[in-house]
Amino acid sequence: MNNIWSDQIQGVMTLYLSRKLRFDDCFFAQYDRVFGLPENEELKILEIGCGPGALAEAMHRWYPRAQITAIDRDSSFIAFAEKTIKDVVFMEGDAAHLPFENDHFDVVISHTVQEHIEPAAFWNEQRRVLKPGGICLCLSARKGIHCTAPCLEMTSEEKEFWESVPHTDDVLEKNNVGKYALSEAELPRSMEQNGFVDVTVGYCLIDLTPDSPKYSSRMAETMIEAMRQNDLEAIQSMHSSAAKNAIDAVNAKYDLRIRLYRNGEKQWDTSIALIMTVRGRKG
Ligand SMILES: C[S@@+](CC[C@H](N)C(=O)[O-])C[C@H]1O[C@@H](n2cnc3c(N)ncnc32)[C@H](O)[C@@H]1O
Repeated sequence: MNNIWSDQIQGVMTLYLSRKLRFDDCFFAQYDRVFGLPENEELKILEIGCGPGALAEAMHRWYPRAQITAIDRDSSFIAFAEKTIKDVVFMEGDAAHLPFENDHFDVVISHTVQEHIEPAAFWNEQRRVLKPGGICLCLSARKGIHCTAPCLEMTSEEKEFWESVPHTDDVLEKNNVGKYALSEAELPRSMEQNGFVDVTVGYCLIDLTPDSPKYSSRMAETMIEAMRQNDLEAIQSMHSSAAKNAIDAVNAKYDLRIRLYRNGEKQWDTSIALIMTVRGRKG
């Protein structure tokens, strides 16, 4: 359909790696509690706005008897997901005009999508494709805690780069990014106003602190590499010939962060995300 999101808003690897961490198995018990899905049933699950597919991939691991379909309108995300993730059906499509018949799915899920789509279209399409009694799960990231290690502060090369490229606010505005964001109180009300019943709210706390002893070295280094990828893809997405110095500076600071981690020199940088799940049923 288009590549606007992956080209200009968030790159494929930025989303895939950050979401792989956010939906790591170590957080499953928290998600499972708030999702409240029936156990051992062959559920038909649809994810809308799936991006590169990390949540759909996690749902397949967590609910192996489910049949999972995932849809997004960004062609590069879908191409990446199809190549990378097995046993999930990925499709290009618009969440406001879902290419499915009425009453088809047991569960519809989304993560950080609601805020970009006009609410009546967002809810009504999900209600239409859900079977009567089917479950809608709407996940969104709420204000968290983010603290950067001194060695990862923005370098002078990065500052110089960002000052040299045009600002991109118009891209965000043109694509409705965040246009329909709702508060913690507005979101469940919006779900009720759009015809869902038995609405509940639950929160999962996703603690990404590489130096925390509770994480393996694999998990800790994955956290650092996900941050590196985020910084690199943001620079690369500007398609500017002035990017080389900034890219070298980013790689140097993350190489240092990895060395400090391996030497046991703790930095205690942290990223704590609070993931809100609003859950409702089609009456
Ligand atoms: C913040 S990203 C989240 C992606 C994914 N859920 C994740 O967490 O990695 C928002 C996603 O919504 C998709 N999106 C926005 N509007 C859409 C629409 N009308 N139909 C389908 N996908 C849409 C974008 O292409 C993008 O992949």
